[in-house]
Amino acid sequence: MNHLKHVAIIMDGNGRWGLKFKNSRNAGHKAGLNTVEKIIKETIKNKIKFLTLFAFSTENWKRPKKEINYLFTLLENFLINRIEELHNKNIKLKILGSKKFSSKLNSLLKLAEKKTSKNTKLQINLALNYGSKSELINAFKKMKKNKTYINEKNLNKNLQTKNIPDPDLLIRTGNTKRLSNFLLWQLAYSEIFFEKKLWPSFNEIDYKKIIKEFKTIKRNFGKI
Ligand code: FPP
Repeated sequence: MNHLKHVAIIMDGNGRWGLKFKNSRNAGHKAGLNTVEKIIKETIKNKIKFLTLFAFSTENWKRPKKEINYLFTLLENFLINRIEELHNKNIKLKILGSKKFSSKLNSLLKLAEKKTSKNTKLQINLALNYGSKSELINAFKKMKKNKTYINEKNLNKNLQTKNIPDPDLLIRTGNTKRLSNFLLWQLAYSEIFFEKKLWPSFNEIDYKKIIKEFKTIKRNFGKI
């Protein structure tokens, strides 16, 4: 049976769900946050050590300002209201991506990372303003500047995901089959599950089913 240490999720479908059920894309993001909470709980129950959530890509800046502002306000409120609880549950929060937000959000994020940095039960990596191609380019630039020998190990050390094992499992909800510039290097050998449900409709039962199926897969890593 496969050990499951790291789950990565592309939480797709908030906008469509919101339009379909509440006539508003933003309502879909709000509902999506409830799913985030359910999935965190189930991740802890399953003793999974790392959960990486794609919350905002470098390409998402192309969305209308109103939607971007709503998403960031949602995140600010989440941090203000829930960080104490996450901390008490021994959860560590780490941000992947560059923190180029309002000074309020930047400092909330920094504070949350600092406060939870020593926690050990679960590490949640929140990919925010994250893009895999720019992560890779920055890593190569650093290696060139420091005259670092280029190999797999050294590249891993220069990525934002250093010290984080590669995802064993990637789940993308929303009935779309693409990677959208998410962890392109780190997902090289991950098992990928594309889920038809939109993120706000996804729940712990769907998640448990995927985990169960993942555990039965024969993972070869190139061998036979
Ligand atoms: C993709 O759905 C989802 C996002 C760009 C945002 C994800 C945010 C959340 C789940 C809620 C906030 C999370 C935190 C941690 C505060 P989409 O909008 O691209 O959906 P669509 O494909 O239907 O348009």
